[in-house]
Amino acid sequence: MNATQEKLKEKFGQALVAAFGTEYAEVDPILVPASNPKFGDYQANVALSLSKKLGQQPRAIAAAIVEKLDVSEICEQPEIAGPGFINLKLKTTYLEAQVNSIYVDSRLGVAKTKTPQREIVDFSSPNIAKEMHVGHLRSTIIGDSIARILEFRGHDVLRLNHVGDWGTQFGMLIAYLREVYPEALTTANALDIGDLVSFYRKAKQRFDEDEAFQETARQEVVRLQAGAEDTLHAWKLLCEQSRQEFQVIYDLLDIHLNERGESFYNPLLPDVIENLEKSGLLVKNQGAKVVFLEGFTNREGEPLPLIVQKSDGGYNYATTDLAALRYRIQQDEAKRIIYVTDAGQSNHFAQFFQVARKAGWIPDDVELVHVPFGLVLGEDGKKIKTRAGESVRLRDLLDEAVARAHADLEVRLQADNRPESPEFIANVAQVIGISAVKYADLSQNRTSNYIFSYDKMLDLKGNTAPYMLYAYARIQGISRKGGISFEELGDKAKVVLEHDTEFALAKYLLLFGEVIGTVEQDLLPNRLCDYLYDLSKKFNVFYDRNHGVRVLDAEEPQRTSRLVLCDLTARTLKLGLSLLGIQVLERM
Ligand code: ARG
Repeated sequence: MNATQEKLKEKFGQALVAAFGTEYAEVDPILVPASNPKFGDYQANVALSLSKKLGQQPRAIAAAIVEKLDVSEICEQPEIAGPGFINLKLKTTYLEAQVNSIYVDSRLGVAKTKTPQREIVDFSSPNIAKEMHVGHLRSTIIGDSIARILEFRGHDVLRLNHVGDWGTQFGMLIAYLREVYPEALTTANALDIGDLVSFYRKAKQRFDEDEAFQETARQEVVRLQAGAEDTLHAWKLLCEQSRQEFQVIYDLLDIHLNERGESFYNPLLPDVIENLEKSGLLVKNQGAKVVFLEGFTNREGEPLPLIVQKSDGGYNYATTDLAALRYRIQQDEAKRIIYVTDAGQSNHFAQFFQVARKAGWIPDDVELVHVPFGLVLGEDGKKIKTRAGESVRLRDLLDEAVARAHADLEVRLQADNRPESPEFIANVAQVIGISAVKYADLSQNRTSNYIFSYDKMLDLKGNTAPYMLYAYARIQGISRKGGISFEELGDKAKVVLEHDTEFALAKYLLLFGEVIGTVEQDLLPNRLCDYLYDLSKKFNVFYDRNHGVRVLDAEEPQRTSRLVLCDLTARTLKLGLSLLGIQVLERM
């Protein structure tokens, strides 16, 4: 609900009490945006909903409410329509005052939350010795945007990178490297991630085929967990190697994260088992320790167990997540914990959440949220692959986006006969390329799969980053052309609304705060993308030669007023895009 709706709701509450008594104070006025601007801005349907209870005709109820309703500061005289709708049309003076107030507000009307709390966003979380893949890219982009929005709302956000840096795979890898390339375990930078990935593949193959090797690998895991110096050293080197590779991607995307990998929780794992044992949830099942789950069954319809300790005594992904969850509640004092991963892990989250709840580890005021997302598909609709059929390296994918943005830009500059410096071109291409990839991801409802298409994401038309960046740069162009700086308009600049397109733009600008509030709740950044896209479109109609208004060559006070609307649109785009992790360009 936006500020105006809230105020109206309050006024309706008072009117209902005056008309029907105090027990009607909390009745929902059922305010909805008007279906047709002809009828005003909002419609209240409360009269229809009360008809039965009051035993009166809705129109009579509507009349009784309107008689007591004092909304004269906000609306024109309310009108009763049809069977008993109350139509409300916002007053121009009210709208102007609202716009003027967000104009002087650096937060553009986005209030800080009244209930700031510690929130954890667990995102990105790639695995050591494995390549970061497009699933991690989605997690990184979506998680970062969610974190930015929560931070902007004033929450105390902990961005955690739950790196997969622990487990049996290290035994395998270290055992294998000891045999074939021992230097890698003692010398920094002896491997790059490509080598590491291929060694990992070979180690796995060896592990699957060779029983003696399996035993050696297990020994290495035991040594690692016991903290044997040489194994630990080797493990650290491998982690460092991967970390450097991940950092390249984070730098390209401007992502800031705190690494707290799975290994961090290693000392806390025995306590998880002990605690589950005490609470009577732990069951021995074929040598393993498990907790049986409700609502999950195997193909035979039997209840499914969640394994928390394998028969060889080892712990797994779920045990670590249980330990991490306890730590985050007890030590980090998180009130909401948000996990951003592909939808394929939905069961994993539902399962360990359930176990933690049953164990009584989740206080009532703590919320656990899995934020799932779909797959990234190639243009053929299948899982994205290179032409050679291999999985795509993120570096290559981002570089390609920038290279294409570069080529497009050269063509555009040539066509416009605009000479620009190589630095300018490189910077613009970089920003457009990276933004295009981020925006293409964020603008989809994250729960669906999406097709990765360079052509689409780099298109200057449509719901794309370049379109939005262009709208922003175009507004900055107005200020350059008019030789005015928006900052110098000053706090005294005021809007006066006359033209339809001015009303439409102004009303839309006022909805920004509400959109941010919604994303804070449902964690769907695509709603913000949709809003920014519609805002750009409304701006383009307002500024359109035929359908809109003149700006620079208008008379005062319209000229200043329209410049204020231009500036507000640009600032909203800039702030909105920054919450998506996207930087704007003054010229492009
Ligand atoms: N490392 C995991 C993967 O690559 C993601 C971890 C997500 N976070 C968590 N707490 N389980 O799939």
